[in-house]
Amino acid sequence: MISVIIPVYKEAENIAPISSEVSRVLSSAGFKHEIILVDDNSKDGTKKICASLVKTLPLKLIIRKKNKGLAPSVIKGIENAAYDIIIVMDADFSHPPSALPKIINALLKDKADFVIGSRYIKGGAIDKNWGFFRRINSKAATLLAKPLTKVKDPMSGFFCFYKKNMPDKKILSPVGYKICLEIITKGNFLNIKEIPIHFTDRSQGKSKFGLKEQFNFILHLIKLYLFLYPNIKQFMLFSAVGASGFVIDLSVYIGLQKLFNVNHILARGLSFWAAASSNWALNRKITFKTKTKSSKLKQWASFLIASLLGFSANFGIYYLLTGYVPFFKKHLIAAFIIGISFGLFINFILSASFVFKKKMMREKLRN
Ligand code: GDD
Ligand code: MN
Repeated sequence: MISVIIPVYKEAENIAPISSEVSRVLSSAGFKHEIILVDDNSKDGTKKICASLVKTLPLKLIIRKKNKGLAPSVIKGIENAAYDIIIVMDADFSHPPSALPKIINALLKDKADFVIGSRYIKGGAIDKNWGFFRRINSKAATLLAKPLTKVKDPMSGFFCFYKKNMPDKKILSPVGYKICLEIITKGNFLNIKEIPIHFTDRSQGKSKFGLKEQFNFILHLIKLYLFLYPNIKQFMLFSAVGASGFVIDLSVYIGLQKLFNVNHILARGLSFWAAASSNWALNRKITFKTKTKSSKLKQWASFLIASLLGFSANFGIYYLLTGYVPFFKKHLIAAFIIGISFGLFINFILSASFVFKKKMMREKLRN
């Protein structure tokens, strides 16, 4: 018996088609089911449409009026589910209802305890019309979540699990869109299986994923990292080392020009190199205390690359915020600080999970 949770916001055009298709697929596969639509008070006729659909479909509509958002809506839906198997999917046909039986059977027959409709495994696909930016964006988000889970597509909004395995409400703090990531990070799932799906962009209505959700995602990631790795001392040390690096960077940059007449571009490059090298040595000694067998040279070089990536993120955020967000056009320093924090965070993640492989992340995950 299946409870299908579909978060909806301004999906009037999609509600009838998705509900009847989901119900048709599940009925013909022999699954008793209910469909729970969780709406954030769309006021686009959703209520009226549902009132007529309940006559022919096993449908419930929940209307929320506070704390609007995809993730809290999904949680509300799960709380109200009557059956023991939960499926969460979008209303806009991005998640093919035809994949439902396969997904449910992975749970029932393959002994998986969590099943994801995945775009990033063999046989899966993203919409072929996705532009460069959306592809990169999706990949980057997935990469940032790497240390949290081994799953290939934790950003998916199409997933299935037993209601009894839902993590306690007290430890959930969903912000934004990535409710699947939230549940697998906080829950105790031992056998997560991914089933390939073809993700297709909606043909009706509009996506609600915008800049605000991008920020929410960063916020969410930070929360999840802190949840999994409560020992933030390491991050503090890393930040302190970063601050010392900043002083070195600036001194070498000014010193080379004033004392040795070095050209400012060259000075900039050299000072970065000096600061990153010092950061590497200090992090190796203090922050990560590595006893790794990999050669120092290799580790140093990969740390420089991590620092460069961190700096690119730092600069990229600054550039986007000051170029496109009116508030930051007037508050450059705020954008500067957000850029630095983000760059530091990226650098830390890369350092902890790749450069100084002391497996601190993975060991934690197993406990
Ligand atoms: N109740 C409620 N409240 N539902 C919402 C809200 C909200 O604030 N925002 C979005 N939804 C519903 C939409 O109505 C739709 O059914 C579903 O959540 C997904 O929203 P879209 O706006 O279509 O999202 P998307 O297509 O950009 O994102 C999808 O793909 C991502 C991967 O690229 C979602 O499946 C994401 O979860 C997924 O990460
Ligand atoms: Mn969509």
